[in-house]
Amino acid sequence: MKVLMLNGSPHAAGNTARALEEMKKIFEKEGMEVELLQVGQLTVSGCRGCGACSGLKKCVIDDVVNELAEKLADADGMVIGSPVYYAAPNGAFIALLDRLFYSSRFDKRMKVGASVVVARRGGCSSSFDQLNKYFTLSGMPLASGQYWNSVHGARAGEAEGDGESLQSMRTLANNMAFLMKSIALGKEAYGLPEREKLIRTNFVRPDLLTEE
Ligand SMILES: Cc1cc2nc3c(=O)[nH]c(=O)nc-3n(C[C@H](O)[C@H](O)[C@H](O)COP(=O)(O)O)c2cc1C
Repeated sequence: MKVLMLNGSPHAAGNTARALEEMKKIFEKEGMEVELLQVGQLTVSGCRGCGACSGLKKCVIDDVVNELAEKLADADGMVIGSPVYYAAPNGAFIALLDRLFYSSRFDKRMKVGASVVVARRGGCSSSFDQLNKYFTLSGMPLASGQYWNSVHGARAGEAEGDGESLQSMRTLANNMAFLMKSIALGKEAYGLPEREKLIRTNFVRPDLLTEE
């Protein structure tokens, strides 16, 4: 089983890295193949909204996003971790995730997702909610731990003192490994759930449009 872990902090040895390392150790103990990538330092442009990906099945901006899409296609689980910047995840990381999830058109259902956020003090819950949106739009079940997957620290290394949060990273990783294994068994026994053809109804009522 494979887990793809993305660190959305520009600091490869910062507090987000520390939180993700705690999870990685558990995944490895559980016999999983783990790839932990530092992506928060990359200059990645945001989605242009050009829609080219609907034909290309990948992003028209051919950069790390398309490489990550191949890795995600191959993974059974994904962890995304970010520092909290102004009560939101790192903007550069969000630019990358928007394009990754919008442009990759393969079936992501039943790949397990988990989000982790790291802050000095506040904004963890809003950041956590935002990261989880990528998974819940994609049919990816969320792994949960014993809290809302947050770790506290300001300068690099300070997360070490947040014992409860590091424990919650271990709980999260153990739960996620269990979920991934259980889903693998379920897929073998039942296959993926039935899927309807997508219906898209935008929130526009043509009958209510007024003519100038
Ligand atoms: C631009 C910027 C904005 C930040 N905003 C917040 C914030 O809203 N709330 C908070 O508690 N910490 C905030 N921080 C602190 C970081 O979240 C904190 O230092 C975190 O440990 C950094 O993680 P890292 O070491 O993985 O980069 C901010 C830091 C920066 C650089």
